[in-house]
Amino acid sequence: MAQARPEIANVSGTAFVTASFRVWGQAGNPPLYDDPVTGLLLDEGALAAAREAAKKFPHAPDMIRLRTRYFDDALREAIAGGVTQVVILGSGLDTRAARIGGEGVRYFEIDNPETLAYKEHTLAANGLLPHVCYIPGDYVAERVAPMLASAGFNHGAPAFFLWEGNATYLPTQTVADVLSQIGQCAAGVVAAMDFMHHQVIARSTGHTDLNDYIDHLARMGAPWVSGFDDISPTARDAGLQVHGQFTTAQLSARYQPHVPLNSPLFDYYSVCTLARTPPAA
Ligand SMILES: C[S@@+](CC[C@H](N)C(=O)[O-])C[C@H]1O[C@@H](n2cnc3c(N)ncnc32)[C@H](O)[C@@H]1O
Repeated sequence: MAQARPEIANVSGTAFVTASFRVWGQAGNPPLYDDPVTGLLLDEGALAAAREAAKKFPHAPDMIRLRTRYFDDALREAIAGGVTQVVILGSGLDTRAARIGGEGVRYFEIDNPETLAYKEHTLAANGLLPHVCYIPGDYVAERVAPMLASAGFNHGAPAFFLWEGNATYLPTQTVADVLSQIGQCAAGVVAAMDFMHHQVIARSTGHTDLNDYIDHLARMGAPWVSGFDDISPTARDAGLQVHGQFTTAQLSARYQPHVPLNSPLFDYYSVCTLARTPPAA
């Protein structure tokens, strides 16, 4: 029997919106990635919710398109470097386990039980059985390390952590705490995440379309609450160092130099890759 799609509300519901943007993003020119899987998880209700959100802020799908390419590359690089454990916190409808996978690579995905069950069953109904250990729960309340330990994660081996589309919904202190947890979770850690500039949260960019989008998300029950000018100090306090930090404007210049962005707001949304600071010699 088909698994019912969870209601599209609150932070969990935003997973259906970002997944829809990711599917649309494949049509961009030049192509930045290939995702034949995520569309299997989206029904007309999910696509309608995404269209409604994109009406408020038409740049949102482009931002997701750019971050998708960045995180795909970061994950592939980690796997090519020998990482065999991939942890996706707040994974929502992330389908990288199915579409990127990797020989001998084990994925651990944490999200709420409804979203994970919906994804697992719908992928299976389409013949897709990625190598994923689904861990239902709340990684803030239950803590990352014990959740992973209960799922057979090897804390003595390197891991890649993807924390995409989550930090903006959490208070600054919680973001710092989760980063510390990530930093202490495995023998060698690389983490990739995205974040908004604090001016976006303070609504001081002067762009009413962006403020309308934030209002729309808040009405959905998913307010944006934290932003950072630069993730470096927070990462440093968590025992992590920044290997790369880029605004989506910089990603666009790298991936699609001939595509005009038509908005300064791409400067306010960034991605980064962090790694555990090596112990002092
Ligand atoms: C905006 S969606 C992003 C989903 C996916 N990472 C992506 O980029 O498409 C945020 C996801 O994080 C999940 N999430 C947020 N906070 C969480 C927490 N404390 N524990 C588990 N999942 C969480 C939500 O349920 C939702 O699926």
